[in-house]
Amino acid sequence: MTHAPIPGYHYDDPARPASPVSTGELEQLAAATLFTDADAAALKVAGEVLADQVEQILDVWYGFVGSHGHLLAYFSTPEGTPIGEYLGAVRRRFGQWITDTCTRPYDARWLAQQEEIALRHTAERKNATDGARSVPHVPLRYLIAFIHPITATMRPFLAAKGHPEAEVEAMHQAWFKAVTLQVALWSRPYANAAW
Ligand code: HEM
Repeated sequence: MTHAPIPGYHYDDPARPASPVSTGELEQLAAATLFTDADAAALKVAGEVLADQVEQILDVWYGFVGSHGHLLAYFSTPEGTPIGEYLGAVRRRFGQWITDTCTRPYDARWLAQQEEIALRHTAERKNATDGARSVPHVPLRYLIAFIHPITATMRPFLAAKGHPEAEVEAMHQAWFKAVTLQVALWSRPYANAAW
């Protein structure tokens, strides 16, 4: 089955610039989260489990952001009006990110995508992809804080297909590590030389 292209999503564009982070640094950072081949295998299963639940997951996450004015502010105009088109455009790429986190190899191309997602949260590239008239950046502290809701809310979806408890737990731990790893990568442009 072929899907319509997602505007602003260029994962497979060979012209995308390489990440300043090397695959060696990625390996060491992944090891620091205790990410192993077993986690990669668990994520693969998670990708199958989550495939037909992406919209429901996004409903939960968008409900969470939408119910906190200080978070919705980052999808709003500087005056505080939420921008529906912006929320909708980002939502499609966010859904694809769930799939990518589970199914893509964590290689140089994946690193390049991580750098792009990082920059899209910073003043360097936020709003540019969708031409949104929103506030200039998402503070790093919220990226870090979101590791918890993005992880905790995932468990019922991972359990929804009746896998044994130990397998659900393995998928959940792998997801937790994968999100932590990505937010650590996304901190790079915020920290620059201190990274
Ligand atoms: C964009 C994930 C934290 C606001 C995105 C995208 C993803 C993502 C996958 C789409 C990237 C793309 O264009 O392909 C995450 C994850 C987070 C996180 C996993 C934390 C674990 C936050 C927080 C906020 C936020 C805390 C603010 C409440 C945004 C906004 C965009 C965006 C406004 C659009 C940026 C643009 O203009 O291109 N995020 N995000 N994110 N996220 Fe986050």
